[in-house]
Amino acid sequence: MKLENGIQQPGFLLALRFLALVLWSFPGARALDNGLAMTPTMGWLHWERFMCNVDCQEEPDSCISEKLFMQMAELMDSDGWKDVGYEYLCIDDCWMAPKRDSKGRLQADPKRFPGGIQGLANYVHSKGLKLGIYADVGNKTCAGFPGSFGYYDIDAQTFADWGVDLLKFDGCHCDSMEHLENVIGNFGLSWDQQVTQMALWAIMAAPLLMSNDLRHISPQAKALLQDKDVIAINQDPLGKQGYRLRKEDNIEVWERPLSDLAWAVAMVNLQEIGGPRFYTISIASLGQGMACIPDCIITQLLPVKRKLGFYQWTSDLKIQINPTGTVLLRLAAN
Ligand SMILES: *[C@@H]1O[C@H](CO)[C@@H](O)[C@H](O)[C@H]1NC(C)=O
Repeated sequence: MKLENGIQQPGFLLALRFLALVLWSFPGARALDNGLAMTPTMGWLHWERFMCNVDCQEEPDSCISEKLFMQMAELMDSDGWKDVGYEYLCIDDCWMAPKRDSKGRLQADPKRFPGGIQGLANYVHSKGLKLGIYADVGNKTCAGFPGSFGYYDIDAQTFADWGVDLLKFDGCHCDSMEHLENVIGNFGLSWDQQVTQMALWAIMAAPLLMSNDLRHISPQAKALLQDKDVIAINQDPLGKQGYRLRKEDNIEVWERPLSDLAWAVAMVNLQEIGGPRFYTISIASLGQGMACIPDCIITQLLPVKRKLGFYQWTSDLKIQINPTGTVLLRLAAN
């Protein structure tokens, strides 16, 4: 079983695992350095796109049902998603029946999930994928379904019995809890904003849980989400998170150390109006002065891949960035 933020744990100490999830939900929590799951989780989560649609009469193709998850599992397998690393198919809120069963266990809504979560887990596993599920730390889920407060052991055992691989343990209806959502959606965003999400996701080593309709995704968005160079930055084995180097005049510069002494650099234009802007930065200021000694090759990965060429430590880099867009670069030894 794996926690959403990428911590892998052995299949015992279920209650501890629940406690761990609560702790990991707090902003500022850091990855546990136990040598396991050092790269961010990649997968798909239904919430941002399908929310709490439980009306399968009116909207059979977009209600939260086993059919929806089976279709997504099929596409993750057949459309190249699994091949580039998207491994977890995650159920969010609203999968439950309104009441626990006679033994106090959570149960899936019988109309929408006639095969139960165990049946769905088997199907998802047969596609070479893993299944994530959702519960809430408090008395109710965000959408008002039964919460896990007072039932942590039972729920952990139930999910383990079903063969669930990951839990998103939400923090609604729970005093003192912060709500943290680690989901990248790609619906309703401009192209430049999508590029910014993808670039910052890579720089910050954040879990990539898409929330979109894989049955109707534009070729452009699909190519962005399946961009192997950008995914490689997110999944870089050095496992160091990026940070903001500077912010000036509505431009942010982020950088992240990578393995093999390479660096990723993202330049974000926060301005929503106006046209593309030029930004100039000295090569020597990147990578704590070490990104480019004595010189390096710079490749632009986003918004389109192109070689910028050979740069010396003493030179400047001049980049053009669209409003709300980002330019993502990789600096590597020559
Ligand atoms: C759940 O409800 C009980 C009873 O009202 C309360 O004592 C408890 O603090 C609540 N739990 C949370 C996490 O808010």
